[in-house]
Amino acid sequence: MKFILTVTSFILYILFVSSLVVSIAADTSSISQSQSLSFGRTIVSPNGVFELGFFNLGNPNKSYLGIWFKNIPSQNIVWVANGGNPINDSFALLSLNSSGHLVLTHNNTVVWSTSSLIETQNPVAKLLDSGNLVIRDENEVNQEAYLWQSFDYPSNTGLSGMKIGWYLKRNLSIHLTAWKSDDDPTPGDFTWGIILHPYPEIYLMKGTKKYYRVGPWNGSPGLINSIYYHEFVSDEEELSFTWNLKNASFLSKVVVNQTTQERPRYVWSETESWMLYSTRPEDYCDHYGVCGANAYCSSTASPICECLKGYTPKSPEKWKSMDRTQGCVLKHPLSCKYDGFAQVDGLKVPDTKRTHVDQTLDIEKCRSKCLNECSCMAYTNYNISGAGSGCIMWFGDLLDIKLYSVAESGRRLHIRLPPSELESIKSKKNSKIIIGTSVAAALGVVLAICFIHRRNIADKSKTKKSNDRQLQDVDVPLFDLLTITAATDNFLLNNKIGEGGFGPVYKGKLEGGQEIAVKRLSSRSGQGITEFITEVKLIAKLQHRNLVKLLGCCIKGQEELLVYEYVVNGSLNSFIFDQTKSKLLDWPRRFNIILGIARGLLYLHQDSRLRIIHRDLKASNVLLDEKLNPKISDFGMARAFGGDQTEGNTNRVVGTYGYMAPEYAFDGNFSIKSDVFSFGILLLEIVCGIKNKSLCHENQTLNLVGYAWALWKEQNALQLIDSGIKDSCVIPEVLRCIHVSLLCVQQYPEDRPTMTSVIQMLGSEMDMVEPKEPGFFPRRILKEGNLKEMTSNDELTISLFSGR
Ligand SMILES: *[C@@H]1O[C@H](CO)[C@@H](O)[C@H](O)[C@H]1NC(C)=O
Ligand SMILES: *[C@@H]1O[C@H](CO)[C@@H](O)[C@H](O)[C@H]1NC(C)=O
Ligand SMILES: *[C@@H]1O[C@H](CO)[C@@H](O)[C@H](O)[C@H]1NC(C)=O
Ligand SMILES: *[C@@H]1O[C@H](CO)[C@@H](O)[C@H](O)[C@H]1NC(C)=O
Ligand SMILES: *[C@@H]1O[C@H](CO)[C@@H](O)[C@H](O)[C@H]1NC(C)=O
Ligand SMILES: *[C@@H]1O[C@H](CO)[C@@H](O)[C@H](O)[C@H]1NC(C)=O
Ligand SMILES: *[C@@H]1O[C@H](CO)[C@@H](O)[C@H](O)[C@H]1NC(C)=O
Ligand SMILES: *[C@@H]1O[C@H](CO)[C@@H](O)[C@H](O)[C@H]1NC(C)=O
Repeated sequence: MKFILTVTSFILYILFVSSLVVSIAADTSSISQSQSLSFGRTIVSPNGVFELGFFNLGNPNKSYLGIWFKNIPSQNIVWVANGGNPINDSFALLSLNSSGHLVLTHNNTVVWSTSSLIETQNPVAKLLDSGNLVIRDENEVNQEAYLWQSFDYPSNTGLSGMKIGWYLKRNLSIHLTAWKSDDDPTPGDFTWGIILHPYPEIYLMKGTKKYYRVGPWNGSPGLINSIYYHEFVSDEEELSFTWNLKNASFLSKVVVNQTTQERPRYVWSETESWMLYSTRPEDYCDHYGVCGANAYCSSTASPICECLKGYTPKSPEKWKSMDRTQGCVLKHPLSCKYDGFAQVDGLKVPDTKRTHVDQTLDIEKCRSKCLNECSCMAYTNYNISGAGSGCIMWFGDLLDIKLYSVAESGRRLHIRLPPSELESIKSKKNSKIIIGTSVAAALGVVLAICFIHRRNIADKSKTKKSNDRQLQDVDVPLFDLLTITAATDNFLLNNKIGEGGFGPVYKGKLEGGQEIAVKRLSSRSGQGITEFITEVKLIAKLQHRNLVKLLGCCIKGQEELLVYEYVVNGSLNSFIFDQTKSKLLDWPRRFNIILGIARGLLYLHQDSRLRIIHRDLKASNVLLDEKLNPKISDFGMARAFGGDQTEGNTNRVVGTYGYMAPEYAFDGNFSIKSDVFSFGILLLEIVCGIKNKSLCHENQTLNLVGYAWALWKEQNALQLIDSGIKDSCVIPEVLRCIHVSLLCVQQYPEDRPTMTSVIQMLGSEMDMVEPKEPGFFPRRILKEGNLKEMTSNDELTISLFSGR
């Protein structure tokens, strides 16, 4: 176990900062022939973004020539010429000699020089606003014909527009190399670049050892993202990967960091320092080959390593003691042409070192080619998008496979299996196929199948019955009124912890010590008591860790009470909108809360037998337990009260202003999609720390949704992030949340996703559609609007179970 916890070293990050552009005279941005630069002098790029000169990291005996962000005070160095070869300040000189080489000398000895391929008569060296130091021929018309550029010889930092990869003809690799330490730019042993396997891949290497692998590019344009986009070039000259910022008013960098740390740190400040965008490796499974050969790693599973189907640990004892170095081997020998393949989805496909790529084959031909070559162990298509898009085949052991928790994040792999393994797959499949076609089959066959089929049903219904009986056995208790009055000190005002849409809530303690929350229903609908109890009993059977548990109810005379488990930390409402308490919810916690609410809601919509529409989802109806896990409360209330159908139209609008979908608020139409709308609002509130109904921008009459929509359209969604979570947030996750929330609050219900796809989108890097205009309504329209009735109080925050 120790082994797992200590291996978290690493290393790559992308940072953002708003740029501070200062215009300065352009002629200080270049060095021409016979000019030189000595200690204390610098040149600055035309718009003042970057500066080139000498610097030291505290020791003047160790100076370096380098480039840095001019207006950023710390962690600003992006390039170093003489990293491993420091010099004394006072004797350093940089000059451009007549054959077009930049030469760094120290007391007349050459310390470093550029290696232009072609010599020229009229060289000029220029520092560009991209951070690239280039040498070009002044007479050359093409401004981009460089004789040399610093972007081809990076230090530990990548910049937008810089290539990582290979100039194949020149046999030149462009890769980032970590510094030995923060104050020593000597090249360390971590590098980030492309390895030229038959199917090239981007690697983080530690020395000559593979440390982390991104996984081969799948041919799709990658993560759609409002901040940057990738470019891949693959031809006979060049194989490279570039990332480019979409909005040039941001500054960003990728740094390969040598240090080992337990958790990546995130830094943010509007202007002066960096905000962490993302780090790699992402999880334990990203560490190269953790599970050994022919096994896969799944960070959400336990144990995290598992042999591939058809394989078994080579040394079961070592495997059990968590030593996976020996990996897995086939259980049964292969038989070549009688073998088959098992399809697995959602993988980081194996290391491509021993692969063969044929771009002319389609997937069917790929399969038969792999089958015919007895040592081909797996295959898949080269290009995930596009039909008939190539073939990649693996030979030998399959290494470094990761199973993503959401299949969309990964790729499909077809793994070779011996006939004996296929039998077991086939027999399972066959039975299914036969049942599927039995209807059309001859009578005799149908009978035979029916027999099996019937027996299956009989077995199932037996277990179902016993389940039902069990449920009845543990039926919701009907509490005695005396028990409840004793538990709550006769509804003592001091014990009141909230006021919900359906009445006040009291904290209480049962005789055994169990803490409860009692909701005292204010008025009864026209419904009869028996129906009410039936309804409550049904609701009490809904059990999910993200729902507050209803323990039972109590009805006596006028008194109608619902008894819930007591949830220690009160409502989400009291956290996110509170200056001090909101700090307790850093981004990982908030993300966990968002996922929990989504899961709870999905259960109500789909997984429970009742199909409940909550109709009043909001921050005050989400409670947090002792571990700050969310629990949805007040579900099923509309149902218990009105015996409403689960979908349709109602005259009794239950809900809260700011969270209600327009079709529900105006027309009383509700559906699971109106809950999705409320979820979208809640999601946005959690990210922004602002109530939807409060005006969040002084000059505008927009609510939060309107404001978010406006920022989204100008690709400025980062501004929405609650300042309290800027230190801890993981930008791609936050952006995904904002994207999902905007999809949820789209005006037309049919455009909104279901909770199933919401959870998929939140949990993966899958591509998402652009949101359409949200169904937000400004306050003014609501006031004039024809809201029929609002049982849930609008202005007062309804803080059921809030407080302590
Ligand atoms: C710089 O070098 C000189 C001479 O070798 C030495 O006396 C001085 O202590 C050094 N300074 C630092 C900060 O190491
Ligand atoms: C660097 O230069 C300073 C001043 O000229 C001198 O005092 C110092 O000894 C030099 N250090 C080294 C390591 O040469
Ligand atoms: C310029 O510097 C390069 C690299 O040090 C050297 O090879 C070349 O001979 C120099 N050219 C002249 C004219 O000094
Ligand atoms: C500079 O170089 C000259 C000649 O190589 C040498 O005599 C002198 O000591 C050097 N000065 C320093 C400070 O290194
Ligand atoms: C490419 O360069 C490397 C060293 O950087 C060398 O080992 C290798 O042989 C070179 N390959 C070719 C084809 O020149
Ligand atoms: C590397 O990470 C450490 C620890 O988080 C940090 O202090 C340091 O500044 C980082 N180095 C670079 C060059 O970013
Ligand atoms: C992959 O497929 C896409 C879409 O069909 C296409 O644009 C791209 O060129 C393909 N890439 C390769 C390497 O075949
Ligand atoms: C880029 O970001 C700036 C500041 O965040 C914003 O004002 C500007 O509108 C954005 N530009 C584009 C083209 O989205």
